[in-house]
Amino acid sequence: MDKLIINGGTPLHGSIRISGAKNASLPILAATLLTESSCSIKNVPDVSDTNYMVQILNSLGVSIERYSGTVITEAKTIQSAAPYELVSKMRASICMMGPLLARTGKAIISMPGGCVIGTRPIDLHLKGLKALGATITQDGGNLTLEAKNGLIGCEIDLRGKSGPTVLGTANIMMAATLAQGTTIIESAAREPEIEDLADFLINMGAKITGQGTRVITIEGVTSLHGAHHEVIPDRIEAATYMMAGLITGGEITLKNICRPHLKTIEEKIQQIGHYISYNADETQVTVSPTSNPQGCEIITDPYPSFPTDAQAQFTSLLALTPGISVIEDMIFPERFMHCAELNRMGAKIEVDRGKAIVHGVTQLTGAPVMASDLRASAALVLAGLAAKGTTQVNRLYHIDRGYEHIDTKLQDLGADLKRVPNSI
Ligand code: UD1
Repeated sequence: MDKLIINGGTPLHGSIRISGAKNASLPILAATLLTESSCSIKNVPDVSDTNYMVQILNSLGVSIERYSGTVITEAKTIQSAAPYELVSKMRASICMMGPLLARTGKAIISMPGGCVIGTRPIDLHLKGLKALGATITQDGGNLTLEAKNGLIGCEIDLRGKSGPTVLGTANIMMAATLAQGTTIIESAAREPEIEDLADFLINMGAKITGQGTRVITIEGVTSLHGAHHEVIPDRIEAATYMMAGLITGGEITLKNICRPHLKTIEEKIQQIGHYISYNADETQVTVSPTSNPQGCEIITDPYPSFPTDAQAQFTSLLALTPGISVIEDMIFPERFMHCAELNRMGAKIEVDRGKAIVHGVTQLTGAPVMASDLRASAALVLAGLAAKGTTQVNRLYHIDRGYEHIDTKLQDLGADLKRVPNSI
């Protein structure tokens, strides 16, 4: 278990390239199960979640080649049961249910357990797959889904109490590509990662319209073929590095970004008073700090609203921004584990019923802190970069799930930090 030792207080400067989106790569890799032909996916980040996904595909019988960000798959003959030891390491492996079921008529996968950011049920995934004709049984912690005579298109509303479900939409969309007839998903997720998945499926021969809106229509086809695809840039990684530049008072440029995906992030940065500019084709962004920032209100909601996955990182920035900021997480109201750790570094944050009230302070001080989940770890790294003294972020495996080579990217921007194994 590695940890990160950060000597804070150095303003970051320079430029780095943003990696491919983890949350697009995972369902896209799962979608390669839908065809026996070869697929080639570019810009897949080298993070532990994509590594687990590749291992799971491999254990299902998919042959895999991986080099310099490209994953080449061939799922000629596959089995239906995903191994517990691998699936239990990554909640997103549930997005294999849809493609496995559609391709083999059966999927056996372990029920995902609890998660530190909330209860995270999968009722909407199961509701959708049932509506497509699957029978579902649960035994020994496993779910078995069967559709011996294939799936049948249907109309399904995927709205849950917190709005649409991202991986639920991915699962149903993938399953419906090989169903008989037409499927209409209402209250579908509009996230760019869902659009990217739809684009890949269309490249494979699927008939999909409406991706990027709340209603997605899928006309089933009898088979899909191989395809090439390049994964979109990771908007959450981009938001995290923007925060890294701003929280340290430096100016940084990020290459390989997609401006439309960063709209609400851009709005909040400007509302705080910081500066943000793009190059002519809007594939590069530069952020620089104002000398007079002010707190703001953030409410997370499904895309195109402010993303819950950038909430913790903004909390770190706002902890050092004068004034009072209020942060409300409508998607995961319990996702405030980072606040107690930030308070140990000198922040003044009160958390009450899904809301964090942040009283901006002028200085954080380094401390040993414990990462609790992926984005919370990122928030602690950001705080450590700005803090006076040394911060030790433990349980770095959380951050390695979703940030490609974060230590070397931050070093490239001038950060004074090093990764060390926990035994040292
Ligand atoms: C995805 C992202 C995750 C992000 C989240 C919300 C991936 C791999 N992960 O997770 O980083 O934080 O979207 O943007 O893409 N819900 C139900 N029933 C369900 C499914 C979800 O009630 O069957 C609820 C959840 O508890 C949550 C909300 O719906 O409150 C949204 O969750 P969902 O969009 O499904 O999250 P994931 O797709 O798992």
